[in-house]
Amino acid sequence: MKAEFIISNTRVDKCPQEPIPEYAFIGRSNVGKSSLINHIAQVKNLAKTSSKPGKTQLINHFKMDDKWYLVDLPGYGYAKTSKSAKKTFQALITRYIKERKNLINLFVLIDSRHEPQKIDLEFMQWLGENGVPFSMVFTKIDKISSNELNKNTSKYKKKMLMTWEEMPKTFITSSESKIGRLDILNYIEELNKQLGGEIRKLF
Ligand code: GTP
Ligand code: MG
Repeated sequence: MKAEFIISNTRVDKCPQEPIPEYAFIGRSNVGKSSLINHIAQVKNLAKTSSKPGKTQLINHFKMDDKWYLVDLPGYGYAKTSKSAKKTFQALITRYIKERKNLINLFVLIDSRHEPQKIDLEFMQWLGENGVPFSMVFTKIDKISSNELNKNTSKYKKKMLMTWEEMPKTFITSSESKIGRLDILNYIEELNKQLGGEIRKLF
């Protein structure tokens, strides 16, 4: 698979203008967005990763097979950044999601090790209210047992179904153990197919 870095920026109007479909990865800082992009692209340092939260600070476009974009975004909810930095990231993410016409689906990454987190539930609620299509991606499953994984995903399901009629599409991944790549790629392929050439109509 061809994967090519195109551009990083803070402004939605400076993002690539080509009318091709795009899929963005979002979630709390350190959840593994950039690592998952590298795993999917099978290129080690395509997106920059770090053990410290707050690494990705820009909107990063990667072109895949000359046909579609993968987008790496800054994380939300990083406790140690200043209030003003948080607001800046929040505004950047909000504007990107609301204004970016190419965006076909958001992949919301959730750390599989934790109990359902308020910030993630609220974020997905907001996506629902704004009619933004999204899927859930549980990350870092190499760090827990399959029992724990089942327990944590069930808890999420229970919480989600308190406000949603059905669960969004869900993926299970580990960039470390190389799990989940094809499931996500097949889903993107399916969405690309459904779209056909219709993306132009969005512009
Ligand atoms: P920000 O850019 O700061 O928002 O973080 P991010 O969501 O892009 O996370 P990143 O991919 O930089 O990964 C954060 C840390 O988690 C790094 O130390 C990664 O090596 C580690 N990590 C990411 N995915 C996995 C995984 O599947 N398993 C394990 N064990 N570690 C992972
Ligand atoms: Mg990152």
